Amino acid sequence: MGTALVILAAGLGTRMRSDLPKVLHEVAGTSLLAHAIRAGRALAPERVIVVAGHGAEAVEAAAREVEPEAQVVRQHEQLGTAHAVAQAAPALEGFAGDVVVLYGDTPFIRPETLSAMAAARGGADIVVLGFDAADPGRYGRLVTEGDRLKRIVEYKDTTEAERAITLCNSGVMAAEAAALMDLVAAVGNDNASGEYYLTDVVALGAARGLTAGVVACDEAETLGINSRAELAAAEAAFQARARAEALETGVTLAAPETVHFAFDTAIGRDAVVEPFVVFGPGVTVETGARIRAFSHLEGCHVARGAEVGPYARLRPGAELEEDARVGNFVEVKNARLGAGAKANHLAYLGDAEVGAGANIGAGTITCNYDGVSKHRTEIGAGAFIGSDTMLVAPVRVGAGALTASGSVITDDVPDAALAIGRARQETKPGLARKLMDRLRAQASRRGKEAG
Ligand code: UD1
Ligand code: CA
Repeated sequence: MGTALVILAAGLGTRMRSDLPKVLHEVAGTSLLAHAIRAGRALAPERVIVVAGHGAEAVEAAAREVEPEAQVVRQHEQLGTAHAVAQAAPALEGFAGDVVVLYGDTPFIRPETLSAMAAARGGADIVVLGFDAADPGRYGRLVTEGDRLKRIVEYKDTTEAERAITLCNSGVMAAEAAALMDLVAAVGNDNASGEYYLTDVVALGAARGLTAGVVACDEAETLGINSRAELAAAEAAFQARARAEALETGVTLAAPETVHFAFDTAIGRDAVVEPFVVFGPGVTVETGARIRAFSHLEGCHVARGAEVGPYARLRPGAELEEDARVGNFVEVKNARLGAGAKANHLAYLGDAEVGAGANIGAGTITCNYDGVSKHRTEIGAGAFIGSDTMLVAPVRVGAGALTASGSVITDDVPDAALAIGRARQETKPGLARKLMDRLRAQASRRGKEAG
């Protein structure tokens, strides 16, 4: 029997004080919504349904980016989480399995936890994911009797005795689709907020003879984000875990607290990451590579033994093959550096192919953009690009070719050729002194006139 994921993502999240829908705020380089969708993949869902409201178009686009098959339904007014789930009814047409509800503002649920919930469905009609909170704050409380869940009380509706309960509701819930949709349709809004609470399905179900159980997980997984402070706390929690994992898998981090990871950063064993390095999404660093201090990497691949930085920037599509080197103040975008190729100082390599062992001199720029389109530069193996060469793309420099410093290269350079594209130097003996004398004399005349 299959699973359908229903992800609630309609709220604006007023406490964020933002024009951006809450679920599109980012942790570790990707939206809260994308985190929730990825977490749900553990259940190999047959359908992924996102309930959008505020900023629905942007939410839909973000959902499709991670899950092209996602169905996005609208909740025009945010009347509560039960009302939100009810909007998924048309998208669940003809679906007979279990529904798992996830909240779009709760990004860290682990795959193992969702699997444990699916397994617990064998023993209960409704399974709720709970956690024992150090500070239960404003979370909904789970009222249990033995190992049965009797009902969930929202914070605003708790009695003093209920407020003392530390077992809290994460928002994740699993039940058979038809039963759940029947229950959400029956939920009323007679409570402190006047909202239709999804949490009420537990008590309603009990009245109809349906059982409910709790699967407990670590509080860190259920962190729900409602404010900027909670967003920052979530980022900090993510980074702490990512650093610990990197160390655990054999990565050297000299100052772990200064390295910033993305949700999908992959770093091989024995790689070294120096202090103050930022990884955006889509980075893979292989075994033994070294990322030196103050570098910024995203959407790139750094092969074994390659070295990046200090102060380097690798943008999407940068590909460093084995033992390649990219040094300080070098920017690489959509470009491959073959094995052992070097660009050690002050260069821009965009839309380029650099052959193995080629040497890119300081100040080299691939002029890849003509104001309308991007063009490619090809540099052959073992080529030597002299300092301050402008490579006006599309252009090709052959294997073993050499460009003279300061050249503007507009025509292809054959293999092994030398290309010089610069004004010829003229040297005038003694002229510097004459020129200076004249300038000083002029300045002193002006001084006398003024004084
Ligand atoms: C909810 C739970 C609470 C739980 C907490 C865990 C309810 C009634 N309460 O409270 O028991 O402890 O999460 O974090 O479910 N949403 C919609 N449409 C709506 C209302 C909400 O899509 O009409 C979405 C929000 O965008 C959000 C999620 O549902 O992603 C949760 O809503 P939120 O208002 O944040 O609920 P909490 O008050 O945090
Ligand atoms: Ca919330």
